[in-house]
Amino acid sequence: MKNKTVGRGKNRLLLNIIFGVFCAGVLAFLLSAPEKSTSPLPMDSDHKRFYSMKKKEAEQYCMSCHGPAKENALSAEHPSKFRCLFCHTRPVQK
Ligand code: HEC
Ligand code: HEC
Repeated sequence: MKNKTVGRGKNRLLLNIIFGVFCAGVLAFLLSAPEKSTSPLPMDSDHKRFYSMKKKEAEQYCMSCHGPAKENALSAEHPSKFRCLFCHTRPVQK
């Protein structure tokens, strides 16, 4: 028995299942991503004073130790030279 309406209903069910599986996949992907992969700003004597500063103010000092040829120069693969604290967040925001 070839009934067009039944056929369409099945198609829609199939599409819904595919869509559901797709959504579950996307969700699983997003949930499996690490919460935070970038190391936070260390809480030690070198970095403590930056916790109470405004971000832009604090960022002016980073390169005095992490700039090229400095003692803790950023690695060549390091992504960006700007806005350090957007990625290296401070655990306690002020
Ligand atoms: C007085 C020098 C100095 C200044 C200024 C400084 N740092 Fe550092 N930083 C260090 C040293 C030394 C280390 C390596 C030892 C450590 O992990 O504390 C380090 C390590 C780091 C690390 C790596 C932590 C890890 O777990 O790998 C990050 C991220 C970092 N600093 C970010 C910053 C940012 C952002 C600023 C500016 C707000 C900044 N630093 C300013 C000396 C400094
Ligand atoms: C776009 C995001 C981003 C920005 C902006 C950023 N970083 Fe990083 N940083 C990373 C990632 C990712 C790593 C490597 C993984 C890790 O150690 O957290 C890293 C690593 C580091 C390290 C460890 C040593 C190294 O080179 O791998 C230091 C120190 C550091 N960053 C300091 C800084 C400073 C200082 C600034 C601002 C001048 C800055 N970061 C801006 C993402 C960023």
